Amino acid sequence: MVELPEIGALDSHPIAVIGMGTMGRGLAMMFSTRGGEIHAYDAVKRVAEEGAAYARDKVGDVCKTIPGGTPGRVVVCPDLASAVEGAWLVIEAIAEKPDLKTELFGELDRLAAPGTILATNSSSYKSSEVIGKVARPERVLNMHFYLLPMLRSVELMTCGKTDERYIRFLKDMLPRWGFVPHVAMKESTGLIFNRIWAAIKRETIHVLAEGVATPEDIDALFREVIGTESSPFRQMDKVGLDVVLDIEDHYAAERPSLPVEVRDLLRNYVAQGRLGVKTGRGFYDDYTKK
Ligand SMILES: NC(=O)c1ccc[n+]([C@@H]2O[C@H](COP(=O)([O-])OP(=O)(O)OC[C@H]3O[C@@H](n4cnc5c(N)ncnc54)[C@H](O)[C@@H]3O)[C@@H](O)[C@H]2O)c1
Repeated sequence: MVELPEIGALDSHPIAVIGMGTMGRGLAMMFSTRGGEIHAYDAVKRVAEEGAAYARDKVGDVCKTIPGGTPGRVVVCPDLASAVEGAWLVIEAIAEKPDLKTELFGELDRLAAPGTILATNSSSYKSSEVIGKVARPERVLNMHFYLLPMLRSVELMTCGKTDERYIRFLKDMLPRWGFVPHVAMKESTGLIFNRIWAAIKRETIHVLAEGVATPEDIDALFREVIGTESSPFRQMDKVGLDVVLDIEDHYAAERPSLPVEVRDLLRNYVAQGRLGVKTGRGFYDDYTKK
């Protein structure tokens, strides 16, 4: 039986963030809003330092939006062992590559104290897919965040072997840092919202692939009827069509009945270098003109 962290440990023990890219630096910023210490580690030292500087720079403003918010300390650690030392929670936010994550979770499990919670921020992999080298899977789970600090929802999901008390504990504690937790009641690829969003993206592309309507018309209808400013094609262009294809390939590997036309269209765009905003052209080609 694993032990739950004591509530007092939340302030006196650090939280470790592994991977200080887009998400890691946002996580370091959010989790340093209650005065504690954040241990930041990235395989690339410069990224860890830039990410920590970003978090320190922004935390003051974010604290104003969180009741009881007080800036904490973000400390860059030279290696994984020093990053997890004393931590009650470790959040992994490295690249979306299951082999890398499996290696890392093996290391984290070996280095972290037995009661330390180990969470993956993976967008599309179930935590059960990264515990191949973990001896204590009862302390591993998915903890999936969105772009920070704007979106504060977080989804919690079992690895199939997670001690349920950890999930309840995190659900109760995460609002301290301004998060709004939601629990997936069973394992699900894409957790909750990303799975629903995947279905919207898929059907949107399918409508285009069949030649039924243009991206402009589809996006305009979506915005009008759903009553939102964001729309599927613009959103996919922002994320990058190579990433959208990787995600859809992952769903299709589990559910081969998904329409192949969607992946074919994406592969065709990627082959042409139409990756979206990052290459100036995707479903839309007006990015360089902006
Ligand atoms: N970007 C998003 O909008 C978003 C949203 C939710 C979840 N996620 C998930 O968060 C994770 C990170 O995504 P990101 O967009 O921040 O990626 P990113 O590429 O911006 O950052 C990843 C960082 O991990 C580092 N890294 C790679 N291997 C490492 C290792 N073994 N040890 C330590 N550091 C290592 C890299 O140097 C890099 O700085 C992914 O699993 C992704 O699916 C991303």
